[in-house]
Amino acid sequence: MSIDGYLDDAAQERLLLSNDADFDRVDEVRAGCDAILVGATTIRQDDPRLLVRSAERQAARAARGEPPHPVKVTVTGSCDIEPTARFFTLGDVDKLVYCASATCPDARKRLGEVATVIDGGDPVDLHLVTADLAARGVRRLMVEGGGTMHTQFLTAGLVDELQLVVAPFFVGDSRAPRFVGDGEFPWGPGHRARLAGVRQIGDVVLLRYALSDRFSEDR
Ligand SMILES: NC(=O)c1ccc[n+]([C@@H]2O[C@H](COP(=O)([O-])OP(=O)(O)OC[C@H]3O[C@@H](n4cnc5c(N)ncnc54)[C@H](OP(=O)(O)O)[C@@H]3O)[C@@H](O)[C@H]2O)c1
Repeated sequence: MSIDGYLDDAAQERLLLSNDADFDRVDEVRAGCDAILVGATTIRQDDPRLLVRSAERQAARAARGEPPHPVKVTVTGSCDIEPTARFFTLGDVDKLVYCASATCPDARKRLGEVATVIDGGDPVDLHLVTADLAARGVRRLMVEGGGTMHTQFLTAGLVDELQLVVAPFFVGDSRAPRFVGDGEFPWGPGHRARLAGVRQIGDVVLLRYALSDRFSEDR
């Protein structure tokens, strides 16, 4: 996020907040996960690949008997996502779409060829999503945004670790999406989160927060 807590600006093109060294660190974190999740708006706006970039990291995953890339996961109520999005077209890995019950029949028609469409309740219930992912063998899930997803995972108390990277500039435009929206977060003035680490990476800073007893220092 920016110094003032934004994940993007209000313009159409994606705003790059990290530097090259941090993008490479994110690639390493991705390579250590079983699945990676973004909200449907991020797919519509950014058209992300969500793949492990480094060939060495892909090979290391394969050597461990894992697919070269983590499973891709999204959540949608409208199911207004194009099957031509790179989320679906790139990477020989499972793509899972948790959609609201009411739109599931349409979602299966629209995306059934390119993804597994799962009824997630209405609205989609993230406890159900994480339980279903666990049943599919996902032990470590990386939530990469956007703000709506961060807010729901954090307020639901489903997050073990928060990695927050602060880029050295301001966005200063309230039309832009923030890191999180309004909500009742488990951590407030009377219940402070545990800061587990701080690391400068060039001109950005990584803050690691331990948010549950499943947090592991060595990851
Ligand atoms: N800086 C970063 O690291 C970073 C990372 C990722 C994204 N971003 C930015 O974040 C912005 C998007 O963030 P955002 O908060 O607007 O959107 P988002 O979190 O990417 O996606 C929100 C959408 O997800 C679906 N959704 C979320 N929770 C749901 C639930 N419980 N049930 C059903 N559907 C649910 C809805 O999709 P439908 O509308 O289809 O119903 C909702 O509109 C973009 O500007 C992107 O560039 C930045």
